Amino acid sequence: MKIAFVGGTGPAGLGLGARLVRAGHDVAIGSRSEERARDAAAQIRTLAGEGSVTGDTNETVIPPADVVVLSVRADAQPETVRGLAGLLDGKIVLSMANPVAVAQGRLERAIDSDTIVTGDDAGAKEAIMTLCADVGVRPVDGGPLSNSRHVEAFVAVLVAINFRYKAGVSYRITGLPS
Ligand SMILES: NC(=O)c1ccc[n+]([C@@H]2O[C@H](COP(=O)([O-])OP(=O)(O)OC[C@H]3O[C@@H](n4cnc5c(N)ncnc54)[C@H](OP(=O)(O)O)[C@@H]3O)[C@@H](O)[C@H]2O)c1
Repeated sequence: MKIAFVGGTGPAGLGLGARLVRAGHDVAIGSRSEERARDAAAQIRTLAGEGSVTGDTNETVIPPADVVVLSVRADAQPETVRGLAGLLDGKIVLSMANPVAVAQGRLERAIDSDTIVTGDDAGAKEAIMTLCADVGVRPVDGGPLSNSRHVEAFVAVLVAINFRYKAGVSYRITGLPS
């Protein structure tokens, strides 16, 4: 798949971008600055070893993409999306923004967790769940997009647990049919 990142120059974009490149996807890192985007693409090339990754402005990376990942800072997301709305129309859009600041895991660390995916479009949700599996996390359908606020809020609990136990915990949903 062709996957574009809007604001892919931060730790979230670099980490997920590198994992998607490793999984064989074509990744385009977007930024407000062409130069920062190119630097980020070069970092991902180093992290991922080989694969397809380019960097350009947010406006340039969106049109050819099948999926657009919004990885801008959470508080900048509404304004960014409003500015790019015309280009995002009709795209599968994945927001990974979370208003709670979290420490980023290292790429070398295996991910052993579930990821709850929420959304209102069944086809788009299925595409995102496939990408989750591609990067090694088990996707769990968490219902409509309106549930995303509850999933995001739970990150605050994970942060508190990590602080208390000096750990790097994540979550697993049990009891699902295999
Ligand atoms: N759901 C998850 O599993 C998960 C995991 C990790 C992180 N996250 C979330 O993903 C989001 C990004 O995390 P991060 O640590 O990578 O964030 P970050 O480094 O703070 O910001 C990411 C990028 O956002 C862009 N940006 C910053 N201010 C902006 C503005 N005012 N307008 C437009 N773009 C702006 C910048 O790109 P340019 O300057 O290059 O344009 C920056 O490199 C956060 O909300 C974080 O909580 C979620």
